[in-house]
Amino acid sequence: MSRRKQIYEGKAKILYEGPEPGTLVQYFKDDATAFNAQKKATLDGKGVLNNRISEFVMIRLGEIGIPTHFIKRLNMREQLIKKVEIIPLEVICRNVAAGTMSKRLGIEEGEKLPRSIVEFCLKRDDLGDPLIAEEHIHAFGWATHAELDEMIAMTLRINDYLQGMFSGIGINLIDFKIEFGRLSTETGDHQVVLADEISPDSCRLWDRETNKKLDKDRFRRDLGDVTEAYTEVATRLGILQSNPPQGKPTLSVVSNDE
Ligand code: TYD
Repeated sequence: MSRRKQIYEGKAKILYEGPEPGTLVQYFKDDATAFNAQKKATLDGKGVLNNRISEFVMIRLGEIGIPTHFIKRLNMREQLIKKVEIIPLEVICRNVAAGTMSKRLGIEEGEKLPRSIVEFCLKRDDLGDPLIAEEHIHAFGWATHAELDEMIAMTLRINDYLQGMFSGIGINLIDFKIEFGRLSTETGDHQVVLADEISPDSCRLWDRETNKKLDKDRFRRDLGDVTEAYTEVATRLGILQSNPPQGKPTLSVVSNDE
């Protein structure tokens, strides 16, 4: 057992104190939850896959100038991250109607939206993460006007980049959820950075040819083969090695980054 100090345990991740001040270790669990944790399961290998996929995405986004909390992956389940103060919002970006938007607005799942839409939910598990308006964010001071502008601009850039990245491997990015944090800078200011994770747990990813769901909806909707779908995403991204003799992707480490 680890003797590190646990800072926080969430539904799919645990945060430990990091080796240096201002750092944390983010541990990816195999636990899956849906419908405000009413549905729970353990999915063998999900944490390993999400650690690798989120690392890959954070590095790519860093390369195009999106500031992130990611420092480096430590091992199969852990990454070193910068300690930030999480802004209590879930920022959702949608390209195609699905999930709660389809239900709320009566738009059939799969219908392309007239343009990408950014939504905000309040991060409050006890309230079921309610959808909120920008007015609420301003009035209750959950983020400043400048922070909100930055989050929206970053979200749209992330969406553009991820749409292209996934399109290159035959996947449509339907929607995704991201979180941001405030990083204290040396001058005592705060910088808004992308935090948390980006993985098939927090995105809707549909195969372009078949519309097969390659994301957490396989768990939410009891479609089966959840980790197989996440493995498919990782393999197409080039994170996992395809093993030609067996023809099966493996979780063996591809050391393209080490
Ligand atoms: P949404 O359709 O609002 O909710 P649900 O997943 O309950 O149908 O979700 C939009 C996208 O954001 C989807 O890819 C899942 C992701 N998301 C999360 O990862 N966590 C959350 O708490 C919420 C509300 C959404």
